[in-house]
Amino acid sequence: MNRKYRKTVIAGNWKMFKTASETRIFAEDLKNSLPRAKRCSIILCVPFVNIPSAIKVLKDSRVAVAAQNLHWEEQGAFTGEISASMLAELGVRYVLIGHSERRQYFGETDLTVNKKIHAALKAGLRPILCVGETLEQRELGVTADLISYQVKAALSGVSAEDMRHIIIAYEPVWAIGTGKTATPEQAGEVCGTIRTVLRKLYGARVARGSTIQYGGSMNPQNAERLLAQADVDGGLIGSASLNPSDFLQIISAANRE
Ligand code: PGA
Repeated sequence: MNRKYRKTVIAGNWKMFKTASETRIFAEDLKNSLPRAKRCSIILCVPFVNIPSAIKVLKDSRVAVAAQNLHWEEQGAFTGEISASMLAELGVRYVLIGHSERRQYFGETDLTVNKKIHAALKAGLRPILCVGETLEQRELGVTADLISYQVKAALSGVSAEDMRHIIIAYEPVWAIGTGKTATPEQAGEVCGTIRTVLRKLYGARVARGSTIQYGGSMNPQNAERLLAQADVDGGLIGSASLNPSDFLQIISAANRE
């Protein structure tokens, strides 16, 4: 973390877990147990149908509610899809884009990720852009090239001004939901690669001010060491965000020096 230049952001990604009533209980619990120190921003990415419940409970708190996906068109004949303006009107502030599970199971490509980034920005939502390599790609030694490509493709046509509203999450596919975490050095190295790409695209000031998270089996035991890396500015947390006590412990780790 480098708090001098950028925000530390802890985001929970619930994936397809929890009903609306479970969301209300969790959100109350979280709201009432937040640490006093406000040294990191907190985001909860909940399933679409739980967004109203989460917003209702968290509206006067410092926890922002996010969606996990959107469609790139404003409206139209796209059965089952949700647009950026529908989310914005509910009070959603952030949206995950290009999570590896979306790329892997729902056919998202670098092109659709790019379209979604533009759609989110147009509606005033802040994208959390996810990038990451598979184990095979890591073993082939192409991680830095692949991540650079994913970042450049996703940000194609995005201005420096808009880049200030984007968070990038580095999530190695082999570490998601597997219990295998990247070492702090591996996480720091790839987050550093991403910052170098941002520097080339947008210049030193934007790169220095951009929040880059690590995600992939982050938990209360490893969070502090991962967050100690200079280029790791927070976490995108899956399974450990489903349990209020684990999630709060990670928030506390991000609040420490
Ligand atoms: P995990 O998921 O923490 O359960 O590995 C992270 C993510 O998919 O965002």
